[in-house]
Amino acid sequence: MYKIDEIAPDVYRISVFVPEIQLQFNHFLIKDDEPLLYHAGLKLMFPLLHEAVKTLIDPKLIRWIGFSHFEVDECGALNEWLQVAPNAQAICSEAGAIVNMTDFALRPSLAMKSNETIRTGKHQYRFIRTPHLPHGWDAGVMFEETNKTLLCSDLFHQNGDLVAITDKDILEAHKSSMLVFESGPLMDYTPYNHKTKALLYELAALKPKTLATMHGSSFFGDCSTALIELNEVMKDVWGEKSASGAKQNALV
Ligand SMILES: [Fe+2]
Ligand SMILES: [Fe+2]
Repeated sequence: MYKIDEIAPDVYRISVFVPEIQLQFNHFLIKDDEPLLYHAGLKLMFPLLHEAVKTLIDPKLIRWIGFSHFEVDECGALNEWLQVAPNAQAICSEAGAIVNMTDFALRPSLAMKSNETIRTGKHQYRFIRTPHLPHGWDAGVMFEETNKTLLCSDLFHQNGDLVAITDKDILEAHKSSMLVFESGPLMDYTPYNHKTKALLYELAALKPKTLATMHGSSFFGDCSTALIELNEVMKDVWGEKSASGAKQNALV
């Protein structure tokens, strides 16, 4: 089952909830002259996602497929999409193109430098390189500048079957989800390092109106403050003074 909600003008959130792991996987289709799908999704989810996209546009018309980093929920079904959409091309960081896409993708990807932009018709996207944020050497995010939607991947990850979009706090749910992960095999979701704060502040300076999150509710409202506060949450969960940071320090 999937659920579709328009969370910002032309931005359709296609959400698939997996009850066994209490997690939503959200994919964003942005309608335009050159439609863009952000998150190709898991290979196993492709038939369902394809059916969902069909209710919005002819999937053959997808021109761009963006994602943050090399991981199956981000780009596992990239090649399935490249096969159904003959003019589609992946967009990723230069590191992602060099390290992964040259071998993984059926066709060459568009490798973007930080702060490079691309226009798809009404919408313009800015690519921001964010290595290791949320995780992965090749990580980046895309900022849809026309309506100020930040496609922020795993940032603000919240577990559970949540509403599509909210103006209420999502940081508390994010922090508690990450603390649940810390007590199991999914610990250490994000490596908090000396560059994390500057990257989050760089995203805050974009002044997004909407945060389009891969897992959990999207957020609209004061996104800059949310991103600045996210730095504090990340520092608490994974920084030097966190339980995992203290453990590391004890080993030095
Ligand atoms: Fe991820
Ligand atoms: Fe994810």
